[in-house]
Amino acid sequence: MDVKGKLAIITGSGMGLGKAFATKLLEAGAMVCISDLDETTGLQTTTEFSEKFGKDKVHFIKCNVLQKDDIVNLYESCEKHFGKTVDIFCNNAGINHVRGWRLCMDIDIMAVMECTEYVMDKMDKSKGGKGGLIVNTASLAGILFGLDKESACYVVAKHGVVALTRTLGRSKNLKTTGVKVQCICPAYADTNILADIGDKAKKEVEKKIWTDDA
Ligand SMILES: NC(=O)c1ccc[n+]([C@@H]2O[C@H](COP(=O)([O-])OP(=O)(O)OC[C@H]3O[C@@H](n4cnc5c(N)ncnc54)[C@H](O)[C@@H]3O)[C@@H](O)[C@H]2O)c1
Repeated sequence: MDVKGKLAIITGSGMGLGKAFATKLLEAGAMVCISDLDETTGLQTTTEFSEKFGKDKVHFIKCNVLQKDDIVNLYESCEKHFGKTVDIFCNNAGINHVRGWRLCMDIDIMAVMECTEYVMDKMDKSKGGKGGLIVNTASLAGILFGLDKESACYVVAKHGVVALTRTLGRSKNLKTTGVKVQCICPAYADTNILADIGDKAKKEVEKKIWTDDA
């Protein structure tokens, strides 16, 4: 896809993979709305990108993906700021299991469903939208089995993201809505999400030894 001149929103893009995706899109000529729960990091990243790519190419809007009002505000304020419709929406915000399985599931799958439902509706050609692309950050954990009981929720959530993508990504849905739904399944990237999972678990993730179920 030629992203030059396209407008993208990336949730959880103040740091980590979301920030890296934003860099790639900006380098390819897209406009990016940085969005994160963490306002400080989000604003720092936006300042950095403004200096590098130009103020008109990047904007920050705070959004907690757990809040429907925030999601609506993110989408609408982004279109207002750039004066055009959103072309690409990346469901990227995510956490690990350390703060409990409910929060993990809420952010890593429930919020992805919430955002996708809302964005799909806005972009849907059969409802007056102009189509678009939704990209979900799943994980290798969305394909393989998990490490242990504690982190099972993360694996369940990411399997959900893959299932959601495979279902909405079917060509019959694309034909009706004009919205392409895809996901990526990264393996190991040394970002903040791994900071508090413990050295042993981090090593296991890094070596991807969970592919061995012995
Ligand atoms: N790092 C890896 O090895 C790896 C591998 C596979 C998939 N992933 C996935 O990549 C995505 C990005 O993770 P990362 O590795 O860059 O981690 P990260 O911790 O560096 O970035 C996650 C970002 O999400 C934000 N965030 C957390 N809760 C939020 C909320 N409720 N609303 C909005 N933003 C919120 C954080 O503030 C942070 O900026 C996640 O979905 C993660 O599951 C990461």
